[in-house]
Amino acid sequence: MELSKELENYKQEIDSAATTEGLYLIWVKYLGKKGSISLLNKEMKNIPEDKRAEFGRVIVALREDFEARYRKKEIELKNKEINEKLEKESIDITLPPFPIKRGTLHPLTQVYYEIVDIFTSMGYELATGPEIELDFFNFEALNIPKEHPARDMQDTFYITDEVLLRTHTSPVQVRTMKKYAPPIKIIAPGKVFRCDSDITHTPMFHQVEGLLIDEYSSFADLKGALVTFIHRLFGEKIPVKFRPSFFPFTEPSAEVDMGCVICGGEGCRVCKGTGWLEILGCGMVHPKVLEAVGYDSDKYRGFAFGMGIERITMLKFGIDDLRLFYDNNIGFLKQF
Ligand code: PHE
Repeated sequence: MELSKELENYKQEIDSAATTEGLYLIWVKYLGKKGSISLLNKEMKNIPEDKRAEFGRVIVALREDFEARYRKKEIELKNKEINEKLEKESIDITLPPFPIKRGTLHPLTQVYYEIVDIFTSMGYELATGPEIELDFFNFEALNIPKEHPARDMQDTFYITDEVLLRTHTSPVQVRTMKKYAPPIKIIAPGKVFRCDSDITHTPMFHQVEGLLIDEYSSFADLKGALVTFIHRLFGEKIPVKFRPSFFPFTEPSAEVDMGCVICGGEGCRVCKGTGWLEILGCGMVHPKVLEAVGYDSDKYRGFAFGMGIERITMLKFGIDDLRLFYDNNIGFLKQF
C-alpha cells in the first residue's frame, strides 16, 4: 500500500532540526491532534474492508519509525544544549552566601534546661508523668480528698469525674513512689493546666517538681537544696527566706521568697513594694502521702518542692506579661 511521498519528509526534517524547540514543532506537525500522521486514522473509513488491516499496520510502522527517530534526535539536542549552557555559564564561588537565619531556644525552654541542669548536677534524676491524670494521683493520694477546700485553689479542667488535666506536677511524686522503693531523688518538669486566664495566668503553664525520700533528711536539707538552687540560677548574692505556708501534701509547708531581682530589694511594682518575690512552694512530705503509696511513714521521710517555670523566666529576664511567651512574636523571641 502506498502513502503520499510527502509523509516521508519527517525523516529529513528531524535530521536537520537544530533545537529541541524546533524538534517539538515537527512532533506537532506529524503527531499533534491535526498532525498528518494522526489524520491518517480518519482515512480508515475510506479504505476497502479487505485492505484495512494492512493500512493499520502501515500507520503503526510509520508512527514507530517517527518516534524512534524523534527520541534519538531529542537526546542528541538536549545534550548539546546542556553542554552549551555549561560552557557559557560560570559560577562565582567567591560570592557571599545568603545569611542563614538561625532560630534560638524559646526563653521558657532555656530556663527549663537550666533548672534541670542545676538539679541533675545535684544528683536528682528526671521523672515524667502523664498530662491527662487520674483524680487519685492529682488529688486523692496527695491528701486532698473530695470536698477538700484545697480543691478550690486549683481550677481544674475535668474530663470525667475521675479523669482530669493535671493541675500541678505533684502527681509525678505519687507515681514515682508507687513504682519505686526509697531512696528517691527526682525532679519532674512538665505542662500543667488550670482554668484561668489573665495577665499573670494562662490555662497551660509549666512546673518543675522535686522530691527526695530517704530515712534521715530534714527541713535543713530542703533549705540547703533550694538556697543552692536559687543562688545558682539568680546569683550568690540574692537573699532567700522561707515563710510558713500550707499545702495538704506537706507538713510543715513553706513558701520561698527571694530578694526582688528587678529593684534589688528597694521595693518596686513587680514586688509590690515589699522587696521580696515568691518563687516556690515546698515542705516535708506529709505522712499521709507516704502511706497512700504504701511507704512506712515511721521509717521514711523526705521533702518536696514545686515551682512555675513561667514565673521564674519572667523574673530572670524582667518580662512583665506572661502572655508574651505564647504569642510567637519573632521580635520578642529574638531577644533571647
Ligand atoms: N504543687 C504545688 C502547687 O502547684 C507546689 C508544691 C509542690 C508545694 C511540692 C509543695 C511541695 O502549688
